[in-house]
Amino acid sequence: MKQLLKTLTESFGPSGYEDAIRKIVVTEVKPLADEVRVDALGNVIARKKPASGAKNPKKIMFAAHMDEIGVIVSHIDKNGFVRFTNIGGTFGRYTLGARVRFLNGASGVVGYDRLEQMDHWLPIDKMYIDVGATSKKDCPVKVGDVAAFERPFVEMGNRIVAKSLDDRTGVVALIEAMRAVKSTPNDLYFVFTTQEEVGTRGAGTAAYGVDPDIGIAVDVTPTGDTPSSLKMVMELGKGPCVKFRDVGMLSDPRVVDWMLQTAEKAKIPHQREVLLVGSTDAREIQVSRAGVMAGAVSIPVRYVHSSSEMVDYDDMKNTVKLLAALASKPVTF
Ligand code: CO
Ligand code: ZN
Repeated sequence: MKQLLKTLTESFGPSGYEDAIRKIVVTEVKPLADEVRVDALGNVIARKKPASGAKNPKKIMFAAHMDEIGVIVSHIDKNGFVRFTNIGGTFGRYTLGARVRFLNGASGVVGYDRLEQMDHWLPIDKMYIDVGATSKKDCPVKVGDVAAFERPFVEMGNRIVAKSLDDRTGVVALIEAMRAVKSTPNDLYFVFTTQEEVGTRGAGTAAYGVDPDIGIAVDVTPTGDTPSSLKMVMELGKGPCVKFRDVGMLSDPRVVDWMLQTAEKAKIPHQREVLLVGSTDAREIQVSRAGVMAGAVSIPVRYVHSSSEMVDYDDMKNTVKLLAALASKPVTF
């Protein structure tokens, strides 16, 4: 699982350009699924059918997003300096000084027009990418080219630091849960979505296509366990979080109860989550078609949307256990 997480976090897939991630995902899920298809938005939809003789199988859709935040070139000046705008929640404070990698292989570093105050608010429209060019002519990128942040995967004890743990941890958890579920009374859809970071777009079309009874997003949640963080109970190392609320969704109470009871029965460490910032694919699934019972399992991650996000490896293992437990037993509501 660690090797797969390393491979996925060191690959590049800004929203709308998830090809490299999709390739890896399709290769991984093909031997584990009964059917695999890719829809028009690029979502990978892998189905595990109910065991023969299963009565009234419930259609459960698990969703994790393949895309990550990034930047897109908007202008190049005569000296070859590249102006850009955000793809998703790219924060200025994490962008200045970062290295980026374009999909065509070009690298760049992010500089700032002129820093008057070192601790000033940093808008990205005052930043540029220096790609090593000396003129517009020898600039290796064009307007419209996209890049993601570049940072190697490192282990620090039981903690892992990498870029795009949001949401490659979720992608890995879904793949490992598929591996762990040998047979199921449910009709399972493991969906690897696109364009979450620009507004949960892939999950909407995927949910329309799958038409599930229950939808569960598997994504990261920021924590409240660092100095002066928001007052939230989620901590690294305390297990997967059962979401009650975020900015975009109130989880269906039946789904919440099912998750809590399943975790308790299987003795899987878990946490309750009320998230004060952000949302997930689950909100899109919940309001798709005529409505879907929805919830989310969140993996606690620090420094979300920086290029050094941090996860506890035990949380990943326990997330896989919880997903496998949810997928393997008949659903009674
Ligand atoms: Co995100
Ligand atoms: Zn995410």
